[in-house]
Amino acid sequence: MLSRPGRASVTAPTAASVEAAVRLDGVTKRFGPSVALDQAWLKIGRGEFMTLLGPSGCGKTTLLNLVAGFLAPNEGEIFIDGSLVTDVPAFARQTGIVFQNYALFPHMTVASNVAYGLKARGVGKDEIGKRVADVLAMMKLTGYEARKPRELSGGQQQRVALARALVIEPKVLLLDEPFSALDKNLRGAMQVEVKEIQRRLGVTTIFVTHDQSEALSLSDRIAVMSAGRICQIDTPEALYRRPADRFVASFIGEGSLLSATLDRMEDDSATVSVGRRAVTVPSAPLAGQSPGARVDLFVRPEHLQVTTTGDAAFEGEVAASIYQGDHVDLYVDTPQAANGRLMMRLAARDAAGISGAGSKIAIAITGEDAVAFPPAGA
Ligand SMILES: Nc1ncnc2c1ncn2[C@@H]1O[C@H](COP(=O)(O)OP(=O)(O)OP(=O)(O)O)[C@@H](O)[C@H]1O
Ligand SMILES: [Mg+2]
Repeated sequence: MLSRPGRASVTAPTAASVEAAVRLDGVTKRFGPSVALDQAWLKIGRGEFMTLLGPSGCGKTTLLNLVAGFLAPNEGEIFIDGSLVTDVPAFARQTGIVFQNYALFPHMTVASNVAYGLKARGVGKDEIGKRVADVLAMMKLTGYEARKPRELSGGQQQRVALARALVIEPKVLLLDEPFSALDKNLRGAMQVEVKEIQRRLGVTTIFVTHDQSEALSLSDRIAVMSAGRICQIDTPEALYRRPADRFVASFIGEGSLLSATLDRMEDDSATVSVGRRAVTVPSAPLAGQSPGARVDLFVRPEHLQVTTTGDAAFEGEVAASIYQGDHVDLYVDTPQAANGRLMMRLAARDAAGISGAGSKIAIAITGEDAVAFPPAGA
């Protein structure tokens, strides 16, 4: 494309930022007085699988519709492949979308549903026939060409919707909770398949879900959203290990909050004490807090260990011990936990010596990934 504006890159080039495939610059969308999307800044790299993750109503579909061109922003600009598209109509944006409810045309056959986008773009009949056959083969739908959507299972309808989005060879594939209507097994199988197709085609993808395990397993990066705002954009591992705030921490994976005191702030790190132990945490989430402040330490279940060797930070009493096959989830009552109870995850062999509900245990904090946050409401 020669029409790309010559915009200098201000950040060091990384896989995700060299020439964004999709860019949102301060995009806001209001419906009447309510703000569905608030100042969204987002850069998605070529071929990247970016997930929008957040609870119902946080603005995921709104963001997708803004990229597709079905909604216009009140503020901000949207770029696809470096070209400004804010005022470009949906049909000219080269995005393929799978809607939250598939939205297949019920009166049309599978083949006509898939051909629709090509016809609308004036592609010739022979070419349409070839491309529809190819994409149906890829989606394992050969032989279903003449059926109507109501004659297909949910999983098959889902594939038709995907075929319809892919057949136009979109610059950006937009998937809005595409697996939510599928049962657990089919969902798992479709996740693997979509990820495989996405990687093979190298198509930039924005995937919407409110299921954190789906997001963690599929995505190159995840944008965690809450109430119209993007809270953090990072790789699955970085979100898990270094959540930027307590919403992200609680939304991704499991964990417990422990009452702690801020001892020392340095450039990148801070030290907090929990019971009898000091723990090093990133300083950024504690910006503005002074030594002596009460803070909450967020720890993952696997970073708490039962100990007998004198390195315990505090004590607790086992409330429940739940066998999970390869590991045991231990719920422990302790005044050190911000809400009175914490959760630990022990390898089955480490849990062998613990006698279950009512037993007193000493708890050590291990691992280097604890994060502390200012007290709630601060
Ligand atoms: N056309 C509309 N008119 C008025 N309000 C709307 C409209 N579309 C969305 N909203 C509101 O904007 C907010 C964000 O909606 P959106 O559909 O983007 O949420 P979502 O994150 O996709 O949720 P879900 O997971 O339930 O699909 C919600 O409060 C919703 O009620
Ligand atoms: Mg939605």
